[in-house]
Amino acid sequence: MKKPIVILGPMESESAILIKRLENRREHPIGVYTFYEGEIDGYPVVVCRTYIGVVNSATVTALAIQKFSPLCVIIQGTSGAHDPTLHQGDIVLGEKMVNIGRFFTPHREKGEGTDTFAWEPHGSEIVSLQADEVLYLHSDRRILEIAETVPYTDGRVLRGVIGAADIWNKELDMLMHLHRTLGTACEEMEGYGVAQVCAQLSTPCADIRVISNSEWHKEEEFNEKYGEQCQMFVLEVVRRLIAEEALM
Ligand code: 5AD
Repeated sequence: MKKPIVILGPMESESAILIKRLENRREHPIGVYTFYEGEIDGYPVVVCRTYIGVVNSATVTALAIQKFSPLCVIIQGTSGAHDPTLHQGDIVLGEKMVNIGRFFTPHREKGEGTDTFAWEPHGSEIVSLQADEVLYLHSDRRILEIAETVPYTDGRVLRGVIGAADIWNKELDMLMHLHRTLGTACEEMEGYGVAQVCAQLSTPCADIRVISNSEWHKEEEFNEKYGEQCQMFVLEVVRRLIAEEALM
């Protein structure tokens, strides 16, 4: 039995194209989540819409690994730019993923208010790596190398740090703070959850994101067409992974 490739997308506009592309499609519902199992180019692939947020993405990843024992899990979809030089349509390959919702705050007295820039980023306990202060998790090296061979004309394709948490940051000073202190290229709401579960369950993963919005450029507001663009890019990554038997 070949181990399938799992591809995840949070919203309908980030998963429907991939689901439609599956040949011999079968459905496996678990609670509100539906896992679509089929083939691409004759190789087993499972696609699932995670819904928005880190808890959803982590849940779906754990269920997918338990049920399908996949070769790898690829999370993909839209993101907002932290790096002001990025634009809608650019693709960020998640060289590293970081939790931008995990901080320890310094003590402040009653009435002293809050100073988010003083909050200290905190790593996670990744038992599988026998480490308890892991700040950055990594995408699988081979998946990123293959992704870099995919022709793409709608923007740049670059490696970067992808931040995730259940927050949509629109404060320019915060975007720059995260960019400077954690090196983030962009933010979204699922990637780190997928990466953490994959690390704990020893499964290779990758986070591949399109920039769909940038607060740095007024006219670059969220547009779901970029979610479709990202699926087409990832579809080609997966076809090349299969053709080159890159992970098998
Ligand atoms: N901040 C946070 N999440 C974003 N998303 C797209 N742009 C951003 C952004 N600037 C994605 C998240 C989530 C949905 C709301 O869109 O990953 O799935």
